[in-house]
Amino acid sequence: MRVVHTIAELRQALAGAKAPAFVPTMGNLHEGHLALVKLAREQGGPVVASIFVNRLQFAPHEDFDRYPRTLERDCELLKGVGCNVVFAPDEAELYPEPQTYKVLPPPELADILEGQFRPGFFTGVSTVVMKLFQCVQPRVAVFGKKDYQQLMVLRGLVRQFALPIEIVAGETARADDGLALSSRNGYLGEAERAEAPQLAAALRKIPAGLEYGERDLAAIEQRAMDGLRTRGWAPDYVALRRRSDLQPPTAEQIDAKEPLVVLAAARLGKTRLIDNLEI
Ligand code: PAF
Repeated sequence: MRVVHTIAELRQALAGAKAPAFVPTMGNLHEGHLALVKLAREQGGPVVASIFVNRLQFAPHEDFDRYPRTLERDCELLKGVGCNVVFAPDEAELYPEPQTYKVLPPPELADILEGQFRPGFFTGVSTVVMKLFQCVQPRVAVFGKKDYQQLMVLRGLVRQFALPIEIVAGETARADDGLALSSRNGYLGEAERAEAPQLAAALRKIPAGLEYGERDLAAIEQRAMDGLRTRGWAPDYVALRRRSDLQPPTAEQIDAKEPLVVLAAARLGKTRLIDNLEI
């Protein structure tokens, strides 16, 4: 496995090879990322993973500075799952001048849910992913369903810019107690870690209400958020949405079993966790 830090080295490492399968990450890898790399390996061709903590997708008050940087350990893990090239640029390499050209995803998708609570987040993600795509020029790119809205935003980006890249989605990896794996889980104290699976548990309760014929989305979402608040969480949202466009379904669409997803973000102490469940 080669570890490269510049775009020139990356191009040289990939010269003459089949277009790669690509797994973009911000590092501090866990089993969820490694599962995405394994999925990338199944696509044929070399596998490239990138490690870059992208300042553009963090608001000034967010955790950019304390986001864990664990490059050496990450590289060991990537080697263990058969990654071929790690692209780990520093900020001066990827943003040698202020990145004033940006990719602006549509507000109806990017300013709701995560975008409502993290303004500009999906612009930052779309911009860095577009740039990483130019560097790596992959045939396939693999993203996790844990970041469900991100996956949809990036599918739209590939479609609307006619990028010759197939997006492959990896299922959310979970701990035995149901907690979705996330680099931010490392921020949780012991008691918080024990409580954290309750976010996924709150989502799992929602389909039962629908099965019993409940159709008042606001009431369903409010009940889930109240339940979390009682347990000491500060929820940003719990939202039942259509999978196709992340807009609220009508009662008729729920009756017709339109594919839905319930998405949530909530803070436990200082740590903000997100999760979702397809129903
Ligand atoms: O999902 C992530 O880790 C990041 O948002 C990504 C896609 C690597 C862009 O920085």
